Amino acid sequence: MPEPARSAAAEPLQLDLTQQEAIPQAGVDAALALMASGRLHRYGEVGGVPSEVSQLEAAFAQEIGARYCVAMNSCGSTMFVALRAAGVKPGDAVLTNCFTLAPVPGAIAHAQARAVLVDVTDDYLIDLADLERKIAASGARTLLLSHMRGHICDMEQLTALCAFHGVQLIEDCAHTMGAGWNGRATGRWGRAGCFSLQSYKHANAGEGGLLVCDDEDLAAQAILLSGSYMLYRSHGARPSDEAFERWKYQTPNLSMRMGNLPAALARPQLGAVLRERCERWNQRCRWVAESLVGIPHVQVPVRDAREQYVASSLQFSVVGLAPERIARFIENCAALGVHVKWFGADAPAGFTSVWAHWQFLGEAQHLPNADRVLRGLCDLRLPLTLSPEDCLAIAAVLRAAMARTLEPAAPGSPARLP
Ligand SMILES: Cc1ncc(COP(=O)(O)O)c(C=O)c1O
Repeated sequence: MPEPARSAAAEPLQLDLTQQEAIPQAGVDAALALMASGRLHRYGEVGGVPSEVSQLEAAFAQEIGARYCVAMNSCGSTMFVALRAAGVKPGDAVLTNCFTLAPVPGAIAHAQARAVLVDVTDDYLIDLADLERKIAASGARTLLLSHMRGHICDMEQLTALCAFHGVQLIEDCAHTMGAGWNGRATGRWGRAGCFSLQSYKHANAGEGGLLVCDDEDLAAQAILLSGSYMLYRSHGARPSDEAFERWKYQTPNLSMRMGNLPAALARPQLGAVLRERCERWNQRCRWVAESLVGIPHVQVPVRDAREQYVASSLQFSVVGLAPERIARFIENCAALGVHVKWFGADAPAGFTSVWAHWQFLGEAQHLPNADRVLRGLCDLRLPLTLSPEDCLAIAAVLRAAMARTLEPAAPGSPARLP
């Protein structure tokens, strides 16, 4: 591991943790060629060449070993379409993690279903004992499982539990493109998997979502819902005509399919490029995580050896400090140039909100662990533009920020924090 180049505590770091790598040249070339052709819409009515979006769907289906793939304009719309195509009706209860991001309960609300939130463990995973309790209490028959921030629970145990209780599984894989559990890719454990191509995810098309599944009725409905008009035959990774005959007169066209431009940007980011990037992401995560060892009150969760995670960010917990002190730690990090997101803040900020802020859910949720776990949960982007030295400098900032946080208040200064 490289030596830190400078004392991070001396002056604020000048790192932009939102700076992603450039789109690979092949993506830029494909996008330029597409713009020159003018054929940006997701469907052309004539011509034998599969569209960019159709090619992306076929490539991703092949990559992940799914029979079908439908590309949409976001993972949020992909999850909504997956729920509808899986038969979720207005008023149905749908289980999901309480530790996730707003688009997940948002997709459930979009389907006019009722979100039933499941508690979180100290390692940021869905609490399987609480899941079982909530299945029994709510009668829900669908779980929208969020592999939030790439933390993957014991999928063998989870799928066995779902099968036992007759609960269908849809996976939110926004943070797990390229990841798996015990040799099997996420997105391939239930009825459908939903991936994101938003800029901070593993493949960056700006915006976009990919739904994968093996079920031809689910796929046919998803294609029709995504807005295929009667042009569904031009999809590459699609089911038989018979499946469409069953659904085409009763499925609305919601116009949510991806356009050709994001698809052109995304396709060259799959395959070997994705695998190589995931390896570099995991390196960055390890470099920072290993350097956090020994910082007082900072805890990095232990990960199961069967979890093949692909980190694009790092989560850690600040334990044993009151919320006011954690807030001070976050401020100290910011003053030293590192933007740490915090799931324990009272008010939602930026991309970060928590279940207590989602008042649109409209139902009381019983989550005994969530407040305690999320109060200390911190979140750090680790873009691939960070060098190894940057990673060590970030860890040094966190160390210095904690030292500052723990300093006793000087005499005559405002009241000491608890
Ligand atoms: C856990 C999780 N699921 C789903 C989504 C939705 O992805 P999109 O922005 O593509 O709608 C996000 C977005 O960041 C997310 O963090």
